[in-house]
Amino acid sequence: MEEVKAEIAKIIYDALGNEQVSLEEIESKIEKPKDKKNGDFAYPCFNLSKVLRNSPINIANDLQSKIILNNSLSKVEALNGFLNFYLNSENIVNDVLTEIVNKGQNYGKSEEGKGINIIVEYSSPNIAKPFHLGHFRNTVLGKALYDLYEELGYNVIGINHLGDWGRQFGILIEGYRRFKDEYNLEENPLQALSDIYTRINQLAKQDESIIDIARENFKKLENGDEELLKLWKSFREISLKEYNRIYEILGSKFDSFNGEAFYNDKMQEVIDILDKKGVLKDSQGAKIVEVGDNMPPCIILKSDGTTIYATRDLAAILYRARTYDFTKCIYITATEQILHFKQVFEAAKYLVDEKYQKGLVHVSYGMIRLKTGKMSTREGNVVYINDLIEEAIKKSKDIILNKNPNIENIDTVSKQIGVGALIFNYLKSGKNKDIIFDIDETLRFDGETGPYVQYTYVRTRSILEKVGFNIEKIDISKIDLSVLNTVQEVELIKSLEKFKSIIQKAANDYEPSVLARYLIDVATLFSRFYNECSVANVEDENLKLARCILVYSTSIVIKKGLGILGIDCPEKM
Ligand code: ARG
Repeated sequence: MEEVKAEIAKIIYDALGNEQVSLEEIESKIEKPKDKKNGDFAYPCFNLSKVLRNSPINIANDLQSKIILNNSLSKVEALNGFLNFYLNSENIVNDVLTEIVNKGQNYGKSEEGKGINIIVEYSSPNIAKPFHLGHFRNTVLGKALYDLYEELGYNVIGINHLGDWGRQFGILIEGYRRFKDEYNLEENPLQALSDIYTRINQLAKQDESIIDIARENFKKLENGDEELLKLWKSFREISLKEYNRIYEILGSKFDSFNGEAFYNDKMQEVIDILDKKGVLKDSQGAKIVEVGDNMPPCIILKSDGTTIYATRDLAAILYRARTYDFTKCIYITATEQILHFKQVFEAAKYLVDEKYQKGLVHVSYGMIRLKTGKMSTREGNVVYINDLIEEAIKKSKDIILNKNPNIENIDTVSKQIGVGALIFNYLKSGKNKDIIFDIDETLRFDGETGPYVQYTYVRTRSILEKVGFNIEKIDISKIDLSVLNTVQEVELIKSLEKFKSIIQKAANDYEPSVLARYLIDVATLFSRFYNECSVANVEDENLKLARCILVYSTSIVIKKGLGILGIDCPEKM
């Protein structure tokens, strides 16, 4: 589409008939109107007012009469000082469908990020606890951003900054020593660790000596005590084993699991640098860095000389700048950490080059509340992801079997739909919106749900199967695609054309919901098309093939789009 902008610029330039304004200047001002009533592209003529000493309205009217359109454009209108250009839909139809057929699953990919490194840090749970709803939102957001940037050609590095260090491990070790024989560490070890942790914490409220022991334990751990390190490692392994099972289901990609513990031996350098720069200040026994008048200072060392969460984040920034030479380093967490990241990013200016510091981005997301019901009963309000996934799969299985009792691979399909429904539900709302979670709503086959979009894909596949359409046997250059000229056809094709810019916008705004909502639009436009335009019962062979190509192209965009969000498409459901 960028080519069209250049073409339009040339047309305006020629119509102007003098060289007072450069081609580039004109091109840079060409916009895409929000409302399609104002054309596919528009040029605001007030940009020429000064040079031509005339009003935008007069300039627009004058230019309109002088403009000579080329083949890509069907008309130009002068309206309120704008020149509105309309694309020749015959050309769009041809260009878009040919591109999709030629590129297949590569449709939408771009090279804008070639050779550029972007870090997406996501999920990052505090270990020794099962996953809960908040982690789920984080993890699906991160995986979608990972894939969006990959589509744009960036070299993406996925990092899971595990919360695997800190005084809580001193206390967990103590609990483990006391109670391990009372818990079933074989069957559900992560749950057992989490229960032990809760129990020892409760006990510590009555018995202060436990806190001292815990502090002692952690100190030993920091100093590399072998026995304690072994225990800590086993907690980490138990946790990762369970998390990896979930990451596999959600399609998460991590290139590194270096979490807080990894930076244990990398903080001294941070302290030294800050000290040398003279920005490390004493404050009530602690060491701090001032980060401006609008925020409390960033604590680097507590009064007992120990480091904190923020110190490890600073060490991570230094390490990542050196190791990955990133252009952007994106952090995904809940909103509670907004201040933390503001402080850390500000303090980072003393550690890394400005180009790295400016590339630090915090992406936060809203809360998830549960519509009360079965899911919330276990342990008060904690909902474990395992339970949720199982419930979603079970429910989708019932729904599918009800519709289609003879379906093959029911286990795979119900997993694709159950998990897909959850992911889609999380990603369709803007990231800052709070979500009220209702599993039955999520699993509906109509409305703005994952299953609805998946179902659209399944329909495209079954239409093509029924007609016996095989893309491998098609020579698209031999088909006259201009026969696709009904409103429904053209609207659907125009929506498929937008795929690339949607990926771009979703990535730029850190907002996978842009893509999720777009897929709902495509599915709806497909439905409208299929209601109005028959595919199988068309006499004219060319028209039938042209429509098949449109159905096929829709299937590509939906499958690809859902894939970016982490959702698999069943072939039948
Ligand atoms: N482990 C933290 C938590 O669960 C999130 C870590 C976010 N990343 C970071 N670099 N601080 O709250």
